[in-house]
Amino acid sequence: MSYTTLLLDVADGIARVTINRPDKLNALDATVIAELGDVVGRIEADATIRGVLLTGAGPKAFVAGADIGELASQGPVDGKARAQLGQAVFRRLERCGKPVVAAVNGFALGGGCELAMACHLRVAAEGARFGQPEVKLGIGPGYGGTVRLPRLVGKGRALELLLTGEMIDAAEAWRIGLVNRVVPADRLLAEAEALLRKILENGPLAVRFVIEAVDAGLELSVDDGLLLEANHFGLLSATADMREGTAAFLAKRKAAFTGR
Ligand code: COA
Repeated sequence: MSYTTLLLDVADGIARVTINRPDKLNALDATVIAELGDVVGRIEADATIRGVLLTGAGPKAFVAGADIGELASQGPVDGKARAQLGQAVFRRLERCGKPVVAAVNGFALGGGCELAMACHLRVAAEGARFGQPEVKLGIGPGYGGTVRLPRLVGKGRALELLLTGEMIDAAEAWRIGLVNRVVPADRLLAEAEALLRKILENGPLAVRFVIEAVDAGLELSVDDGLLLEANHFGLLSATADMREGTAAFLAKRKAAFTGR
């Protein structure tokens, strides 16, 4: 599949995905969602892809939300279907088994903030702005905002953002834990990539299991979460990577992981 609204570049273990509708501030229309779904399938299937960087084209926006032109005419049945389709694509990205870092280069509003939250880590440019303005349109979030935002920043702060619809700047997003770091705009992609590369130095199976344990663990009882963690701990003990990582430490050399 060739894409009309996305740029995909795979090199040196990293898939760089750019939402590419800058004239519409990279708003998520049905085509973007479909193409994003296809890209996630490729990310899952391509063993040469070890991590993902996601950003928006142009200097102004990461993603300014779902495409309001499309929302304006939807009815209840297609509205629900639109939400569930986008939710499924975002969820699949979140569960693709490879670390995904969002490089937030401007407005991350509505579906844009929700897309950034479906990534595992978020690096923001100093001028980035975040918000869930759906209530200003008389609708609520449809791509996971009511679910992921409280988990990231706590219920009170999430409700303030969700109910006022007001934007916050990157510094405030960092303060409340919505983003992991804030960097100068001209350093954004380099810093996001450096963060991703730091993760990619580690055992890929361990990284995958940690993402899975945290994702599942948040929904589990303490006992069930601990059991899952212990099972992962045991399972990883059967991997070549675990032998290599521990042997490298003991031999005071850098580990060479193979993902097996
Ligand atoms: N859906 C569809 N089109 C969008 C869009 C969206 N979510 N966000 C921006 N655009 C379009 C604008 O309509 C405009 O298109 P045009 O040039 O054909 O008129 C273009 O992108 C540029 O946006 P504009 O509003 O002119 O830029 P701005 O700098 O004045 O304002 C924002 C920037 C982000 C504050 C403003 O675009 C905005 O509020 N967007 C909607 C945010 C939102 O509510 N998102 C949640 C949707 S559920």
